[in-house]
Amino acid sequence: MAPKSKQPAKKAVSQPAKQPAAAKPVKVALLGFGTVGSSVATVLAAQKFAGIQLTHIFNRNVERKRTSPAAKFVPKDTIWTEDINAILASDVDIIIELMGGLNPVESWLRKAITSGKSIVTANKQLIAYRGAGLARLAAQHNVHLVHNAAVAGGVPVIPGMLQGLGGDQVTRLSGIVNGTCNYILSRMETGAAYATVLADAQQLGYAEADPSADVDGYDARAKLCILSRIAMHAELDPDAVATQTISTIDAIDFSYAKELNCTIRQVSRAQLEGTTVHARVAPMLVPMASPIAWSHGTQNMVVVSGRFGGDVVFSGHGAGGEPTAVAVVSDLLGVAQGCKSVSLPVRKRKVTGEFLAPHYLRFVVDDKPGIVSAIAGALAKVGANIDSILQRPGYPKHRLPFVVTTEPCLTSTIEKAVASLAKLDCMLERPLCLQILTIEDKPDEA
Ligand SMILES: NC(=O)c1ccc[n+]([C@@H]2O[C@H](COP(=O)([O-])OP(=O)(O)OC[C@H]3O[C@@H](n4cnc5c(N)ncnc54)[C@H](OP(=O)(O)O)[C@@H]3O)[C@@H](O)[C@H]2O)c1
Repeated sequence: MAPKSKQPAKKAVSQPAKQPAAAKPVKVALLGFGTVGSSVATVLAAQKFAGIQLTHIFNRNVERKRTSPAAKFVPKDTIWTEDINAILASDVDIIIELMGGLNPVESWLRKAITSGKSIVTANKQLIAYRGAGLARLAAQHNVHLVHNAAVAGGVPVIPGMLQGLGGDQVTRLSGIVNGTCNYILSRMETGAAYATVLADAQQLGYAEADPSADVDGYDARAKLCILSRIAMHAELDPDAVATQTISTIDAIDFSYAKELNCTIRQVSRAQLEGTTVHARVAPMLVPMASPIAWSHGTQNMVVVSGRFGGDVVFSGHGAGGEPTAVAVVSDLLGVAQGCKSVSLPVRKRKVTGEFLAPHYLRFVVDDKPGIVSAIAGALAKVGANIDSILQRPGYPKHRLPFVVTTEPCLTSTIEKAVASLAKLDCMLERPLCLQILTIEDKPDEA
């Protein structure tokens, strides 16, 4: 056997580990550097997510924003601009839209989608009125349109419904989606007057100088339409959803509500029945045992009822810069990681404000004999039965507030009775009519 030639031992050469090619950063532009936009910059700076690069910030009068305290969180190489075309023509991958409103936002986002950019937005009006068309355009161009921050701010109700409840058949939604109204009503519950609390809400930045979008229910109905689309695949015309203001609620209503073991909240509710959606945004009496009664201050709460899974409750901070920014940044990360946005088929649905429910009627009258029988007569004429009559002592006869509650009847029935009762000479104000939620409300009641 030939002797083995003695080979010098091979020196082990340590090869450098194969490095993956540096991933290209995802380029992001922010439209709007207001409450939420500046908070998004703060959250991005604090979290330092690898692979995300904030390349542009767009705002009108941008110098004012560039020199604001919040700008210290913005990377030095970010471009501040007042020229939207600088962004639309750039190689930005994702646009975060936090300006609000329909115009000019819709046309800018359409151009961005057409040029292959994905969109993250918290704009509820845009999504409620134009969401279906924008989603179709995004699908055609194979980009994402994500808007989980548009409802309930920092509470992940939309992703919860899409990912967590997509397997159920949701038939009913109810809850509190406007933090301003909840702040006002939950403070009135402790004895404060509407005007005082509204002024406080304006000072704290919870309510606008013109509060009508919140207190008259328009903000909440936009959100209810978005939730109905996600949960019930129902496309609703927001203008067809019945709304009722909270501005006619008085301290006395909370006293009477308490006697009925209830409180008052602005409730947004929708129920799917066949091809019709029963939807309404209004102040309602809510039983203290319902989770909806437990939300205070600017909290949001949404109860989603599924055919198979029963009730699921989402709750948390529905608004505010940082909670909303968390939802926006979470959407941004999802899109950057290429998570496929779930798009569900939606159908246009007829909307009605009709519900079958017990009602609370509060009258303020110049007290005269025969008033109760006149009220009972008007209710009997439309077929509504009285359940109880409540009258607290200590009010002057010439301005006497008292309450009648009815057994369940249709909204249109009770509205007919209220219209005729409002014409009585003794009525000093239009009677206040509120739906009473019942714990055992079932979708097939309406
Ligand atoms: N705030 C919340 O808690 C919250 C919660 C959920 C969802 N959202 C939604 O998030 C979006 C942003 O809300 P926000 O509270 O951050 O509003 P905001 O404080 O008013 O910020 C909007 C920003 O966009 C700028 N802007 C508006 N229109 C513009 C235009 N045509 N051209 C250039 N810049 C324009 C504004 O500039 P100026 O300073 O010059 O006005 C402002 O800096 C809205 O869609 C809102 O509904 C807000």
